[in-house]
Amino acid sequence: MRKIDIFDTTLRDGEQSAGINLNTAEKLEIAKQLERFGANVIEAGFPASSPGDFEAVQKIANTVQNSIVTGLARAVKTDIETSWEALKGGAEPHLHIFLATSPIHMTYKLKKTPDQVVDIAVESVKYAKKFFPLVQWSAEDAFRSDFDFLVRIVEQVIKAGATTINLPDTVGYATPAEYGAMFKYLKENAKGIEKVKLSAHCHDDLGMAVANTLAAIENGADQVEGTINGIGERAGNAGLEEVAVALHIRKDFYNIETDVKLDEIKRISQLVSQLTGMVVPANKAVVGKNAFAHESGIHQDGVLKERSTYEIITPELIGETSNRMVLGKHSGRHAFKDRAVSMGFHLSEEKINDAFQAFKRLADKKKEISEEDLFVILTDQQIQD
Ligand code: KIV
Ligand code: ZN
Repeated sequence: MRKIDIFDTTLRDGEQSAGINLNTAEKLEIAKQLERFGANVIEAGFPASSPGDFEAVQKIANTVQNSIVTGLARAVKTDIETSWEALKGGAEPHLHIFLATSPIHMTYKLKKTPDQVVDIAVESVKYAKKFFPLVQWSAEDAFRSDFDFLVRIVEQVIKAGATTINLPDTVGYATPAEYGAMFKYLKENAKGIEKVKLSAHCHDDLGMAVANTLAAIENGADQVEGTINGIGERAGNAGLEEVAVALHIRKDFYNIETDVKLDEIKRISQLVSQLTGMVVPANKAVVGKNAFAHESGIHQDGVLKERSTYEIITPELIGETSNRMVLGKHSGRHAFKDRAVSMGFHLSEEKINDAFQAFKRLADKKKEISEEDLFVILTDQQIQD
């Protein structure tokens, strides 16, 4: 079975979400939990971007032992030197350098020719290798780049010493088939690519980050990048919890393993949500409040008879205690009776029917029926028994 590495960038790209600002203690807490979650690489921040980020990256590099800790750097000497100071205490010092390769970015942002960009990329990787044994090089906006130019620059940075090549869809523009095709093209055409790790990094602007990440895996990616709860710039990054669970649940299709401890997912999701203040939407796959909630009578009846009817993921798999039968206006008698029994009410069939009618009348007026509401309805029937 092929193994894929998980590169977590919650503390760097994730923290780039509008409105998030984590201090060193909060970042360290998340990093320790990411280590337990099984992230192979933790991108702890962007050391040259601020003294606070430098401090947090340094603290995490000096503390975390079981994951590689990295930091982001532009392709400039001062960023590389600052990053070395922050990361040198790590067990396996790793640097992540990025440089844009798309015509749009090279023309308008960098104001450089393609030849100049190749030279800068090569020089920066060579310089980084004087300090770091592991250097990841990212072609920012890779997906909107000319693929033959990508082949050329990737071959050069591999010769310069890069150990991982990352091909981001920086603006979330790719479709799964197209993003997968880029990986296939690079694997087939870039000399030396078999000697390095090939990484995928997807943004969610069109809601395809997880699908694109999985397409990259199908086309030879060795590492995938993302964040917990999918937080990140604009619409966010690929949610690692979704990628990991998809690979597990559809092992029959992907035949891939990772080091992720799936039963740590709920805990890391809650921690990231609490410390960043980014609320997880109720309907979010895997970690949303409703991911294991069943409301309609038909679904509740099915799940009570056999869980696999409507549950492809068990809540226990991700460290969630149980599924939830939400009692609302679509709920059926089966779930209602089941809840009554679990609350200690053993009523006759006739009384259960009456209580169920009272419940339905109330459910028409309320979004969700609380335990207290049920208690009142059931007690009322018990007294009349
Ligand atoms: O999305 C992106 O291109 C990035 C790079 C810095 C890797 O986050
Ligand atoms: Zn990104």
